[in-house]
Amino acid sequence: MANSIQEYLQVISTVREYVEEQMQLGFTEILDPEHSKLTEVDYNQLRQEANGCKKCELHATRTNVVFGTGNENADLMFIGEAPGRDEDEKGEPFVGRAGQLLTKVIEAMELTRDKVYIANVIKCRPPNNRNPKHTEIESCEPYLIRQIELIKPKVICALGTFAAQMLLRTEAKISALRGHFHEYRGIKVMPTYHPAYLLRNPGGKREVWEDMQKVMAELNLPIP
Ligand code: URA
Repeated sequence: MANSIQEYLQVISTVREYVEEQMQLGFTEILDPEHSKLTEVDYNQLRQEANGCKKCELHATRTNVVFGTGNENADLMFIGEAPGRDEDEKGEPFVGRAGQLLTKVIEAMELTRDKVYIANVIKCRPPNNRNPKHTEIESCEPYLIRQIELIKPKVICALGTFAAQMLLRTEAKISALRGHFHEYRGIKVMPTYHPAYLLRNPGGKREVWEDMQKVMAELNLPIP
């Protein structure tokens, strides 16, 4: 079937508009939509894909991609914000001071880090721990979405404002979101305070423990 010159010009102008819009958003590469969906890849392929990722500028300053760690069939998945310096150095999420506190919370639940799964929304460290940019979140989101699809947790614990707002597509504050279950694609989501917040505000530990008790009840785990 022949297409008229007018139709070709229309396609070119639509593509041009799309590319200009992406540039205005800060992208320096055009993502192949099929590639970024990652719908077919298994866990190891996904990890490999993330390890080689150059979809945003954070690849240039990272030491390691911090993909995620723990049980790939976990019922409980913790999702934080982004790696800090310690995590970037080790390539493992939550290994710094905030991570040690998260480990204590997990152990207080009579679980271990290798029984749950721990990941972040952003897989590479933002320089000087600045907030991730909108374009970085957008580039990185498909990895987390596929990770959740593969792990199929029964409960997700969203650590802090950033993970909770991203998963639940809301701008509500963490203080309003925490304490009760929400839903992400049929999975129960319990937002709670980020361990880094607890380091600055130890009084929040009581609320986090209340939230974790609800998570344990949902998973039929004994409450210590
Ligand atoms: N804070 C996070 O959100 N994630 C980490 O991995 C470490 C600190």
